Amino acid sequence: MTDLFADKAQDWDTRPVPAQISAGVTRTLLDTLSLDETMQVLDFGAGTGLICGAIAPHVAHVVAVDISQAMLDRLAAKPELAGKVETRCQDITQQPLDERFDLIVSAMALHHVDDTAQLLATFARHLKPDGRIALADLDTEDGSFHPAGTEGVFHQGFDRGALTDLLQKAGLGEVSFTTAATVHKDERPYDIFLVTARKSTAAA
Ligand SMILES: C[S@@+](CC[C@H](N)C(=O)[O-])C[C@H]1O[C@@H](n2cnc3c(N)ncnc32)[C@H](O)[C@@H]1O
Repeated sequence: MTDLFADKAQDWDTRPVPAQISAGVTRTLLDTLSLDETMQVLDFGAGTGLICGAIAPHVAHVVAVDISQAMLDRLAAKPELAGKVETRCQDITQQPLDERFDLIVSAMALHHVDDTAQLLATFARHLKPDGRIALADLDTEDGSFHPAGTEGVFHQGFDRGALTDLLQKAGLGEVSFTTAATVHKDERPYDIFLVTARKSTAAA
């Protein structure tokens, strides 16, 4: 499989837009969720670890999954994350993990996965009973966030109502949205939501 982030991985951590998004998302996430040092966390589409790097000091362990080895190599090279964040280059929608997690986080990876319903079902099956998700991505946009023809982009953001329906169909309740960041590209504003939800007891 082609690594679509092989080039971007080289300077991802110095790009202003990922930095602004990850700062807003981690701030909102830490304000919204009570993390504790017993928690097992999965970061889906973890990339270079901008999100899980900020969460790791507050939890027991993070499994960072991504299909880009180049992005994960950058994460694995961060000495402060050694022993706390484990990387797995694996598409868990095709090849699920054996573990179950207290929390699944993800930032800006949802729009790279074609079948959102299948992805949310994958998250539900990776959660412990009562486990939570915290997912950040673009609100519906006009397609201008990525350069025209960018490979691997399947969604022009997400409609909050439609995503709520898909979360509920996947057995995830207590759905709550916040705007985590507003970023500017070429002077155009793009809102980034953070949605949290909990695995319903009936789906456990
Ligand atoms: C825009 S980057 C975001 C990286 C990181 N979460 C951040 O906020 O800096 C999207 C990431 O999702 C990953 N990705 C795309 N499809 C994926 C899949 N099916 N499974 C896991 N990761 C995926 C990409 O390889 C890339 O690293």
